[in-house]
Amino acid sequence: MGELKKEVDELSGVETTGHEWDGLKELNNPLPKWWLYIFYASIVWSIGYWIVMPSWPLVSSYTAGVIGYSQREVATREFDTAMAERAETGSKLLEASLDEIRSTPELLEFAMASGSAAFADNCAPCHGTGATGFVGYPNLQDDVWIWGGTMDDIAQTISYGVRSEHEDTRFGEMMAFGRDEILNKEEIAAVANYVAANLAGSTPEEGADLALGETVYVDNCAACHGDEGLGSPELGAPNLTSPNYLYGNSVEAIEAQVFSPRHGVMPPWIDRLGETTVKSLAVYVHSLGGGQ
Ligand code: HEC
Ligand code: HEC
Repeated sequence: MGELKKEVDELSGVETTGHEWDGLKELNNPLPKWWLYIFYASIVWSIGYWIVMPSWPLVSSYTAGVIGYSQREVATREFDTAMAERAETGSKLLEASLDEIRSTPELLEFAMASGSAAFADNCAPCHGTGATGFVGYPNLQDDVWIWGGTMDDIAQTISYGVRSEHEDTRFGEMMAFGRDEILNKEEIAAVANYVAANLAGSTPEEGADLALGETVYVDNCAACHGDEGLGSPELGAPNLTSPNYLYGNSVEAIEAQVFSPRHGVMPPWIDRLGETTVKSLAVYVHSLGGGQ
């Protein structure tokens, strides 16, 4: 390699580096002072940072730095604090009455958030994401309750289920009037038409014997569903004047139910979800529309 020839550029009076490309020569201007200072300052800063903070990877660990900072520890500490706060709010929730929950924004917010999350995870498959139910799975948005609509009623239904394997389950069964030959075909048709016409507000068949239907109802049904058809939460006998029938309010649907009832099953949740989540769910379900 020949020695590079330094020369001074005629126009600017600045020395060139000697590099030349197609007649263009590079001027050897010094670096600006501000740039240099920032450059030196960053070197000093990075050395300081290496010493103070965790920085260099080693074979099986890393240099911890003199202050021993760890993002994992910070995250763990924040998580523990959040869990402790949760547990504290949860135990306050357990002790609070519905009125207290409603008047304490912290509790209400906690219950609604954890209740709606638990509902989406556990209940939506049967009751629907909007809690409006399906055939056989009750609508939880309306103000008609098979098993009662107070906070305590709802919490009990959620805790132990309906016709479930839990020993404290809610239980109530309607007889299979047709299958077990308690009523004959004419009586079943008559009572189904009577329920449709006088309680459900749906259309009876033409020429139906509503007088016979009434007799059959009073003798066989009123004990559980009530004289006026308003149902009984103790027995789990639905309100027959509600528009949201579990199994449909047409004459055929009612006949099918009277012939052979379905006896829907709702699982118990207390052992799976725990008291706090069940209470949150009760607050959430109660708030959906028709809590009593
Ligand atoms: C496997 C399906 C299924 C799942 C999952 C389920 N339920 Fe139910 N639920 C039912 C059935 C069926 C009934 C009606 C039982 C009957 O015939 O009385 C019911 C009834 C209820 C009732 C009583 C309604 C009334 O009118 O009294 C409430 C409240 C309720 N469920 C809440 C919940 C909550 C909250 C969850 C989630 C933790 C849940 N359910 C999960 C099937 C289910
Ligand atoms: C021993 C109490 C009992 C008696 C008596 C009884 N039921 Fe029921 N009924 C229930 C229960 C509990 C249910 C809830 C669903 C189930 O068990 O399948 C129900 C459900 C129904 C339903 C379905 C409601 C819906 O939401 O879809 C109809 C309709 C009905 N009963 C009509 C009658 C008629 C008509 C009679 C008389 C012939 C009668 N029941 C007698 C307890 C009773």
